Parts: sequence; C-alpha cells; structure tokens
Amino acid sequence: METMNSLDVISSLCKRRGFIFHSSEVYGGINGFWDYGPMGCEMKRNIKEDWWRFTVRNREDVAGLDATIIMHPAIWKASGHLDTFSDPMCTCRACKKLMRADQVWDILTEGPIGQSLQALLAEGADIGKLAAWCKGKGQGLAPNLAAVQNADALTAAVEALKAAPEKYATVQSLYTLFAQLADSSPCPYCGGELTEPRPFNLMFKTIVGPVEDPANVAYLRPETAQAIFAQFLNVLATSRQTVPFGIAQMGKSFRNEVTPRNYTFRSREFEQMELEYFIRPDEAVELMFGRVTTMADNPDLSTPQDAWGWEVWHKYWVEQRKAWIQACGLPASSFEEYWQKPDELAHYARACVDILYAFPFGTQELEGIAARSDFDLSQHQKHSGKSMEVFDEALKLAAAKLDDAAKAAFTEKVAADWAAHGKDADAARAFVAKLFEGRFVPHVIEPSAGVDRMMLALLCNAYEEQKLTDEKGKDDSRVVMHFSPRIAPVKVAVFPLVKNKPEVYNKAREVFEHLRRRYAAFWDEGGAIGRRYRRQDEIGTPWCVTVDFQTLDDGTFTVRDRDTMQQERMTLEQLKAKIEDALI
Ligand code: GAP
Repeated sequence: METMNSLDVISSLCKRRGFIFHSSEVYGGINGFWDYGPMGCEMKRNIKEDWWRFTVRNREDVAGLDATIIMHPAIWKASGHLDTFSDPMCTCRACKKLMRADQVWDILTEGPIGQSLQALLAEGADIGKLAAWCKGKGQGLAPNLAAVQNADALTAAVEALKAAPEKYATVQSLYTLFAQLADSSPCPYCGGELTEPRPFNLMFKTIVGPVEDPANVAYLRPETAQAIFAQFLNVLATSRQTVPFGIAQMGKSFRNEVTPRNYTFRSREFEQMELEYFIRPDEAVELMFGRVTTMADNPDLSTPQDAWGWEVWHKYWVEQRKAWIQACGLPASSFEEYWQKPDELAHYARACVDILYAFPFGTQELEGIAARSDFDLSQHQKHSGKSMEVFDEALKLAAAKLDDAAKAAFTEKVAADWAAHGKDADAARAFVAKLFEGRFVPHVIEPSAGVDRMMLALLCNAYEEQKLTDEKGKDDSRVVMHFSPRIAPVKVAVFPLVKNKPEVYNKAREVFEHLRRRYAAFWDEGGAIGRRYRRQDEIGTPWCVTVDFQTLDDGTFTVRDRDTMQQERMTLEQLKAKIEDALI
C-alpha cells in the first residue's frame, strides 16, 4: 500500500476525473481561479450542505442568511477592510514581477533558482563550483543577480565565501550574497532588486451602474462575515432569537491575492462558510449569574451553559469545529490547533485559533475561530448611526435586584478592570449603566471556514495508491479516494452485469432509477466490471451494485465495498438501510 499525495498527483486526478479544472482553460487559464467539474461540484455541495446541517439545521440557536456579494461600500470602511485589508507587495525593478513581500523566500525555494542552488549546496559544492554557477547556469536562471552580471560582484562574493563559508550554507544566504544587496531581498524570479514593500488592498473593485465615477465604486466582498453584522438587526427582529445566538452564511468571497498558489489553497475567488455567534459581554453574565465560567473552571463543553464567559464559548466553538471536520472524514491526527500569540492577534481580538491541516505543501490554515469582542457591531453602530444594542430582559431584571451600593461597587469593579487593560474607565461606567438597563452590544465568536480549503484537505486525505494482487496472482494497482460517504460525490454506482440481456439490463435500470431518486447515483454499463470498479474507486464511490441473473430470481444484487473490495449480496431495502446509516 502506497500513498503519494503530492499536490501534482492530486491535481492530475482532479482534472482526469472531473473534480477541478483551471478556470477558462481553453484560453490558457486565469491565475487564482478554479472551476469545479461534475464530481467536484457534487462534493463541494456535500461539504456545504453538511456544514449547513451541522451549524444551522441541527441547532435551535443559529439562523441563516444569504446576502449579496456587492454591498454598500461603507460596510468596508466600517469593518476596516478599506484601510487595512492589504498585503505588503513588492515589485522587481528589473523584471517588473509583483509578489508578496512575505513570500519572496518561499517563491525562491520552490522555483528553479532555489532548486538549482539547493542542489549545489546538497552536493557540498566548493567555491569554484559556486562561482561557476554564476558564470554558467545562473546566466539563464537569474540574469539580474549582481554576481551573475558583473565580475566585481562575483569577486566580492568569492572573497566572502572564502572568509566565512559557513555563513552561506543556505539557499537564502547564498542568494543574498550573489545579489550583493545589503538591506533588501533579491527578486526570486531573476535576482534583480526589489522595491520596498507597499500595502496592496486585496478587495476587487467594480462600478455599480453605468457611470464610471468614484462615487459608484463598490467592492466584491472579501468575506461573507460583514453582511451578517450589517443585517444583524433584521435577523434579530425576524428570527425570534435572543443572545446568545448565531447567524450563519456561506457563499463566494473574493480577494485579489498577490500570489495565488498551492492549487486551490489560495484562490482569488473562493467560498466561505462563516458563523457569527453573538454572546453577552462577560460583565452582563456576571451581573446575571454572579460569576463567569472560565476555562479555569474546567467546564463540560458538550452543552452551552448560561454562565459561560467568552473564553468558554470560544473553546466550545473550537471543539464544535473540530468535531465537524472529523465528521467529514479528516482524522484528528491530520490537523492541529494553533493558538495565535498575543502579538499576532488583531487589536480587537481576544483569542484566535487556526485549525492547521498537514497539506502536501506544508501545515497550513484550514479555518480559524476568533473571539472578536464587540468590535464589528460597534464599528457598524458608529459608522451607520444605528444602534446595534440588544435589549435583554433577564439582564435588566437581574440588575434591578441590586441595591444602589451594590450597583456602585459593580460599576467601580468594571471600571478598574477596564483601566487595568488600558481601556477608558469612564467608558466602562457608561457601559455598565446600559447593562443596568438591560442593554449591550453583543460580543462575537467567529468560526470561519473555507469550502475550497476543506475540499482540498479532503482530497489530499482521501487519496491512496494501492498495490494489489489480482485473482490470477498478478500484480495490480488502483487509485482509491477514501471519502466519507457523506462527502463522496457519488454514493452508489449501478452496473448491469451484461448489456445484451434485456431482463438483466432493465432490472439494473430499475434499481438505478430507484436509488437516484434519493442519492447521487451513477450508471455505468461500459467495459469489464473490474474496470468499472476502478473508475468508481477514483471518484471515491463507497458502493457499487452489480445486477446479475440471480437478481431476476431473488431480487438480491452484489454490493461491492470501496475500501475492503468485498462483495455482499443484499436486497434494495438492505442497501438503502446501509446507505442511510452511513449518511446520518
Ligand atoms: N471573516 C474572517 C475571515 O475571513 P480569514 O482567515 O481571512 O478570516 C477565513 O478567512 C477562511 O477562509 C480561511 O481559514 C480559509 O479557509 C478561507 N480563505 C481565506 N482566504 C482564502 C483564499 N484566498 N483562498 C481560499 N480560501 C481562503
């Protein structure tokens, strides 16, 4: 049994079997955009439906939303995206290529220059060979590298190598030496000098209406989350929900990524599945229940409790997300939690956990769960002039039970706590006064997942190349995608054993027609049964049904299991029960 889940192998299977195609391929493709083919769109739909079922339908405290992609541009001012949603980008002064400043070394290492230098270092090349590289291969690979272009720079590099060879034992240090640049990185494509990094806003701009005027500029949403905040009041008014509750949305998002890479991992058009879960501020919880449960209390996270503070809600959602990821078929051993360090957090965030998956190109973010305080709703309150406060009757009643002295003590306790965290004590007093009236701007926990990244992880995880021995003892092999039945694009394939016997053929059609009313089913009548199995293995179909002569007698057919390759005879009712069981 062998598994070679490099990205090239996965992408080639995805193309061959209709999962993922390069967008606009007939015109040479367009960088950062991907299309999902017949199998891919079924699988993607399954991921989204499963997320929706888990996040919305199976809960009583989450309502759904389906908002537009283009929204009022003021939303992006309020959210901070207009001013700060940018990547640092630099340009090569020589070859004019643009790149993300933080990806220069990755591009170098993965590209032909890095590979060539790495090979030299790996074989322990001496100074002569390194200099020969500059006069030979380097001319084609990195023509704008100083040591490749001029003899003086090459001499200086050789002298530095002689003086301290150990300093140049990595591709990065060697390349910088050859570039003879003291204080900036060289271009990873040609060796030229890069400009200073400049912020590049990632939002796609468009014009609404026929007039190309700056007043008509709008943006394709870079995340689905902001529509949830912008529609918070409407959903609250119409859903009969009260805090704590969530609003979920999934759909397309767009980011003009400077360097889209790693297949669909970083795309310019992608889909997100986001939940904004609104909770009471901890101070409101304390007023109501006299205490705030924190993680130090070692709470049971299986069922939400009234006295939970933000920290417990955050951890609860981390656990919920991990449970869903596993239910989709990613083993717990394949992903990990990364808790962002205080200096990595956005200024308003209290905590953020990235769920990292071990992709073939490295362990990278699959999704994130952030505790965002009341930042988003407060920003929209400030920019729209509309109050985003909720009225909480239970909170007002709890506050009414306090006498004036207790209220004053509570107020000063909160003011001191805010001051200790560098926040304004007067603002704390105003905030507590509102709490006594039962009013506050909810805080939010945000689990935010990418459909395309989840799909890529599931594809990488499912792929296996197996070496087999056929019934005649000959070596054989197969590629099999071990998708969980819930996610598999096709649940069941139906084959007639033979095509030229109408009774068998028609019975098989009957079984197929019956199954496809309920499940994504596939009909295949071409070629030997073994080849038909292999085709289904490559798209991860869990069960293959073969209708034969015995079916005509007793109604049973063979059901072949994708993973064990074992066959079992059963009736249609038994098969349906088996499928239902696996899809729950
Ligand atoms: N509302 C929060 C937010 O958008 P994010 O970390 O920027 O947070 C959330 O994005 C998730 O969306 C990521 O964890 C990832 O799964 C997905 N995502 C973000 N940018 C992406 C891209 N360029 N291509 C594919 N998926 C992306």
